[in-house]
Amino acid sequence: MYKLVFSLALSSVLLSAPMTVLAEASPNLGNTAMETDEVFQAFGGKTGLVNIMDDFMINLVNDPRTKPYFDNEKQTYIKAMLVEQMCELLNGGCRYPGRDMKSSHTGLNINRAAFNALVEDFQLAMDKHQVPFRAQNKLLAKLAPMYRMIEEK
Ligand code: HEM
Repeated sequence: MYKLVFSLALSSVLLSAPMTVLAEASPNLGNTAMETDEVFQAFGGKTGLVNIMDDFMINLVNDPRTKPYFDNEKQTYIKAMLVEQMCELLNGGCRYPGRDMKSSHTGLNINRAAFNALVEDFQLAMDKHQVPFRAQNKLLAKLAPMYRMIEEK
């Protein structure tokens, strides 16, 4: 419980920090205590990412805050794209083939509350798959700046 609360607090800090600070902080976070390959392996490699995204999507559909966005026929496609995107972000040797974050989220009217809800649901999935806290935060630090491309109101 302590870990989750702390984790949520951290994501709030990340998401509320000025974007310029995040942009400067992210590269430094990438290579300190954990090596790049170590972080990818902490997620269980690509197979681990597939399993995490399966639970992530279940969380999103069970969460009333995010259900309206994801309760449709696109789940399989979105999960597959998330696996490739996260694998690329973790330098796992993948090349994300999907659309950019701005064009894929335009018109969805995503606000800060919806973004934070999605981050919480992602953290729950990573917790379930026992991704170490430090590895989770390395990925979250890379996701946080994407808010400015996804937010609409
Ligand atoms: C850092 C946060 C996020 C990341 C990394 C992310 C990533 C992605 C990716 C990779 C796709 C597939 C892109 C493609 O079409 O090729 C996608 C689509 C989508 N995302 Fe996100 N997303 C994020 C936040 C959100 C949030 C907060 C919501 C809503 C609460 C959301 C709702 C959707 C929906 C509904 C689609 C499907 C759009 C469509 O094709 O109609 N996303 N996202």
